[in-house]
Amino acid sequence: MEDFVTLNYNGTEIKLPVVTGSEGEKAIDISRLRADTGFITMDPGYVNTGSCMSSITFMDGENGILRYRGIPVEQLAEKSTYKETAYLLINGRLPTRDELTEFSINLNDNSLVHTDLKAFFQNFPRQSHPMGILSSMVNALRSFYPTYGPLEEEINMTMTRLLAKVRTMAAMSYKISRGHELVLPRPDMTYCENFLNMMFDTPVKPYEIKKEVVNALRVFWILHADHEQNCSTSSVRMVGSARVNLYAAISAGIAALWGPLHGGANQAVIEMLTDIQNDGGSYQSAIERARDKNDSFRLMGFGHRVYKTYDPRAKIMKKMCDELLDSLNIDDPLLDIARGLEETALQDPYFIDHNLYPNVDFYSGIVLRAIGIPTNMFTVMFALGRLPGWIAQWKESVDDPRWKISRPRQVYTGEQEYDYIPLHARNA
Ligand code: ACO
Repeated sequence: MEDFVTLNYNGTEIKLPVVTGSEGEKAIDISRLRADTGFITMDPGYVNTGSCMSSITFMDGENGILRYRGIPVEQLAEKSTYKETAYLLINGRLPTRDELTEFSINLNDNSLVHTDLKAFFQNFPRQSHPMGILSSMVNALRSFYPTYGPLEEEINMTMTRLLAKVRTMAAMSYKISRGHELVLPRPDMTYCENFLNMMFDTPVKPYEIKKEVVNALRVFWILHADHEQNCSTSSVRMVGSARVNLYAAISAGIAALWGPLHGGANQAVIEMLTDIQNDGGSYQSAIERARDKNDSFRLMGFGHRVYKTYDPRAKIMKKMCDELLDSLNIDDPLLDIARGLEETALQDPYFIDHNLYPNVDFYSGIVLRAIGIPTNMFTVMFALGRLPGWIAQWKESVDDPRWKISRPRQVYTGEQEYDYIPLHARNA
C-alpha cells in the first residue's frame, strides 16, 4: 500500500509520497511540490533534506551506527585492509581473491605520477597549505590524462588512477616541501606501507616499517573511507551533477574538506590542545569559552551534525590511539589534555544538553602525530582516506536514473524592482 503524508494549505490538499529506506528511514518525497503548489521548502544547511537515495553507507546518529555496504565499520577496522574496504565501497561488495589481486596490480601499475607534475608542486609559494595544493593538483591530473576509451573503461581507469596517484602526490608534496629527494612507490609493499615509505624514507635514514604504525594508518583510513552525505561528499555529488570529470569533482570535495568545521578539524584539535598546553594545561577555560554564547569559540573535535551520541569512529580511534602510543612508548602531553578535556566536557550540562560528544577528529590528530605526520598534512590524510567514498558516491550519482543537475531554490529577500539612478543623482 502506498504511504503518503497530506499537506493542507488554504483548503488545497496535496498528497506527498513517503519513501522508506532499507533500514526503515523515512522521507517525504517533495519532488513535485513546486510544480503542484508553487511552494518550495526552506532547510538551511540541508539539515532535513535527503539529496539522494544511496546504498553505500548507513549511519544512525542516535545509536552510533556506521556501516559500509552493510558491514559494521568496527568489523572492517578490525579485519579488513584499506584496499579491500575501498573495493567494497566502490563496487558494492567484498572482492574475491582474484579480484583483489587484480585491483592491487592495477593500483601498483598506476602509482607513478608524471614527472612534469613536479614543476607544479615546486612553484607553489612555500607557505601554501597542502590541502590547497592537493585540490589544485588533483584537478590538474585531468590535463595529464585527458583521453580514454568507452565510458565504463574510462571511469574505472580514472578511479584507479585517483586511488593510486593521489597517495603518491601527497607524499611527493611533503618531500618537496622539505627539499628532499622523491621516493618512488614500491610494488612489494602494501598500500599503507608504501605511503609511509614514500613519506619518510631518506637516503641517510631508511624508513623502518613498524607493524603498529602501518596498522594505525590502515584503521585511520578505513574509519575515514566514507560518511554518506557530509559537506565534502555532497560537494563531490553537486559538482559532479554538472557532469564534470571525476578529477574536478574530487578536487571540489578536497576543497570542502579543508574547512575547520569539517576535515580541517583534526588540525584544529591539535592547535586547540597546544594552546591549552601553552596556557598551563587547564582545559576549564576552553570548556567555559565553548559554553559562552557571546564567544564564537567551539570545542574542536566535539559535536556532529548526525551523531547525537558517541561517534563510533571516535571510539575505535581512541582505543587505537592508546594502543599505538603504548606500543611506541610515546608520552604525548596532548593526549592527557585531550582525555581530561573529554572527561570534563562529558559531565558538563552544556555538552550533555547539546548532545556534544567527541567526533572522529578528536583523537585522530594525536594518532597522526605519533605516526610522524606533520600537523598541516592531517587533513590531507583524511582526504586520502575519503577518496574511495567520494569515488563511490560520484559513481552512484552518475548511474542514478533519477539524476538531475543540483540546483537548489531560494527565498528572495532583496529590494523589489526600482529604476536605475544615474551617478550624478545618487545621494552620498
Ligand atoms: N563546541 C561548543 N558548542 C557546540 C559545538 C562545539 N564543538 N558544536 C555544536 N555546538 C553547539 C552550538 O553552539 C549550538 O548551540 P545552540 O543551539 O545553543 O545555539 C548547538 O550545539 C548546535 O550546533 P550547530 O552548529 O547547529 O550544529 P551543526 O550540526 O550545524 O554542527 C558541527 C555540527 C559543525 C560539527 C559542530 O558540532 C562543530 O562546529 N564542531 C566543531 C568542529 C568539528 O569538530 N568538526 C568536525 C566534524 S566531524 C567531521 O567533519 C569529520
